[in-house]
Amino acid sequence: MNILLLGSGGRESAFAWKMSQSSLCGKLFIAPGNGGTAAYGKNILIDPNDFEAVKAVVLKENITLVVVGPEEPLVNGIHDFFLKDPALAGVPVIGPKKEGAILEGSKDFSKQFMARHGIPTAGSRSFTAATLQEGLVYLENHLTPIVLKADGLAAGKGVLILDNTAEAQEELKLMLSGKFGAAGTTVVVEEFLSGIELSMFVLTDGDHYVILPEAKDYKRIGQADTGLNTGGMGSVSPVPFAHEAFLKEVEQDIIIPTINGLKKDNIDYTGFIFFGLIKVNEKPYVIEYNCRMGDPETESVIPRIENDLVELFVATAQKRLHEVTLNISPKNAATVMIVAGGYPGEYEKGKSITGLDNLRQSMAFHAGTIAEGGVIKSNGGRVLAVTSLQDTQFDALQCATADAARIYFDGKYFREDIGFDLM
Ligand code: AMP
Ligand code: GLY
Repeated sequence: MNILLLGSGGRESAFAWKMSQSSLCGKLFIAPGNGGTAAYGKNILIDPNDFEAVKAVVLKENITLVVVGPEEPLVNGIHDFFLKDPALAGVPVIGPKKEGAILEGSKDFSKQFMARHGIPTAGSRSFTAATLQEGLVYLENHLTPIVLKADGLAAGKGVLILDNTAEAQEELKLMLSGKFGAAGTTVVVEEFLSGIELSMFVLTDGDHYVILPEAKDYKRIGQADTGLNTGGMGSVSPVPFAHEAFLKEVEQDIIIPTINGLKKDNIDYTGFIFFGLIKVNEKPYVIEYNCRMGDPETESVIPRIENDLVELFVATAQKRLHEVTLNISPKNAATVMIVAGGYPGEYEKGKSITGLDNLRQSMAFHAGTIAEGGVIKSNGGRVLAVTSLQDTQFDALQCATADAARIYFDGKYFREDIGFDLM
């Protein structure tokens, strides 16, 4: 079958790498892809949010499966667009419809969903411009630190953690008067939870689910988790503190109630659910849902999945996931993200990358790269994800970190401490 994968990051490189190994995979197209994905299929330079352009590719290339990497096309309704168009209705889309993607697209919705279905999460209340005064009083009466979240998609920037009530009140005013545009029309004010975070992933066909390997993502730019938040500087899988009993508890208290909650709410969900979790006193709480896989978690998770990924997607589309047994490698994966100097602030693009052939015990999943005249150049903030799969976590971390040092471009930066805090 011919497959179209939408997206252009390290996550999509890992998907493309894995899907291209499947005997079911005919031609693989990646739209728009990056400088590395052309090694696994054909890049097509269209915007995944331009649904008419996606339709044209599907029809021209006889695509019979579409896999959506990022959240934006899902939140914008790409799956609904396929279902509504008679020429596309028979082409399965891996990724939820709008009604399911709203779990990520609206934090207010996801908080109400969790409250309705008894899923453990931080206590919260939502406010709009009409209820600003109530919001200010609410902040007055709650302890700091306190968390303010823009309801809608804000490119990972819509969450503020504030240590001081007056500052939180000021920020609430700013957010409700348009600091994050339409995404901040509603603001969720949430209790601060103190603990350690991890990511869990489920692939569901709406009735059944498989639990993918868990991962931990490192969000801060600086060593030892300091400095600004980023899209993710590295990841590891498995996560040592996610022991068996804890994972069972996540399944019982969070995953099953989420799948059942979707059913009770008549939301027919096909695709990934990403549970952003925090472990507080040994108990799991949901920090957020995403309607897609994580990046850079995917780069550590996918290499541990021994199943044929296309087979998994076909079973998902056919609501046959209960027939699938997931085989997970006991090996340890570590991913170190190489970023452009200046990221997550301003940074330059177009730097020539060398050393990609020097990796000894890792693979490089391209993220923000572009191929220009046979040269791979940087083309984004997060440039390359270097992943190593080894028998021990220590070896995986060492190999990925050492190989990240073998790649060069002007201004490159990576964290040398990814995962070592877990040793
Ligand atoms: P989110 O966009 O919801 O993932 O939030 C971004 C980051 O903010 C999370 O990964 C956490 O590190 C932090 N965060 C969000 N909500 C809370 C909370 N209630 N308590 C503590 N930290 C939080
Ligand atoms: N690594 C976090 C995310 O993908 O949102």
